[in-house]
Amino acid sequence: MRLTDKVIGISGAASGIGRACAVAAAAEGANVALGDIDQQGLTETVRLVEETGQQAVSHVVDVTSETDQSDLVTLATEHFGGLHGWIGSAGTGSSDTVLDHSREEWRRVMHINVDGVFFGAQAAARYMRKHNGGSLVNIASMYGQRAFPLRAAYCTSKAAVIMLTQVMALELAEHNIRVNAVAPGYTDTPLFQAGLVRDGQWKLDRMLERVPTGRLAHPDEIAKAAIFLLSDDASYVNGHTLTTDGGWVINGKW
Ligand SMILES: NC(=O)c1ccc[n+]([C@@H]2O[C@H](COP(=O)([O-])OP(=O)(O)OC[C@H]3O[C@@H](n4cnc5c(N)ncnc54)[C@H](O)[C@@H]3O)[C@@H](O)[C@H]2O)c1
Repeated sequence: MRLTDKVIGISGAASGIGRACAVAAAAEGANVALGDIDQQGLTETVRLVEETGQQAVSHVVDVTSETDQSDLVTLATEHFGGLHGWIGSAGTGSSDTVLDHSREEWRRVMHINVDGVFFGAQAAARYMRKHNGGSLVNIASMYGQRAFPLRAAYCTSKAAVIMLTQVMALELAEHNIRVNAVAPGYTDTPLFQAGLVRDGQWKLDRMLERVPTGRLAHPDEIAKAAIFLLSDDASYVNGHTLTTDGGWVINGKW
């Protein structure tokens, strides 16, 4: 097992990719500290982690709050006696034209997707630099690597996460902290399904046409990429964005 005796903090752990990361980290021997705004979803993730035989604690966290995020770090370190890894998975979507985008919607997406990843990783790194280092994984998106209409805020926020990952990797290496990102492709989660409810089945068919593997990712497949980066298997991987998209980004086919 790759995370035996490690403690991993995860934001956005009540659903989708964050939940899959919690269960995957536990399956690798970690105990986990879980944060999300969704208390009910957190309770279910704790139950799933405990089924693996590992331990989980949870805390209602709004990732836009620095205080909430550092409270989760404190919960992890006080309950489990340390913090070795952190995954920032909380995120939100948006769908507005550039011309119609409101200031409020722009700020909401940036606040959750960019500030939320930054404050969490920062809080974790502040602890890790005094405790022999660690490993941070930010969840970005393939939409941070390609431009999409109606996704100005989302694409920009995810491109920011990719660059933030690189700057953090440069600055934190001297503290023995590695920082990497996963850029998921289309993944079957409530966030993705909400988009389909809005746009319809035709949209899914169109989306899958561009995916060489011809299907959505399961959240577990994204979690496995995050666990690799978190673990010592990736001990010389730093500042990298691991695109996990079934080949969507490299597809030049029209
Ligand atoms: N599903 C996809 O196709 C896909 C593709 C690329 C990237 N991503 C990214 O993966 C991450 C996880 O998304 P998902 O698909 O698992 O979605 P999801 O909706 O299943 O999970 C997102 C979680 O974030 C939480 N959250 C939202 N705002 C929050 C806040 N302010 N504070 C704390 N928690 C908050 C939600 O409550 C939810 O539990 C996001 O960053 C998303 O942008 C998803």
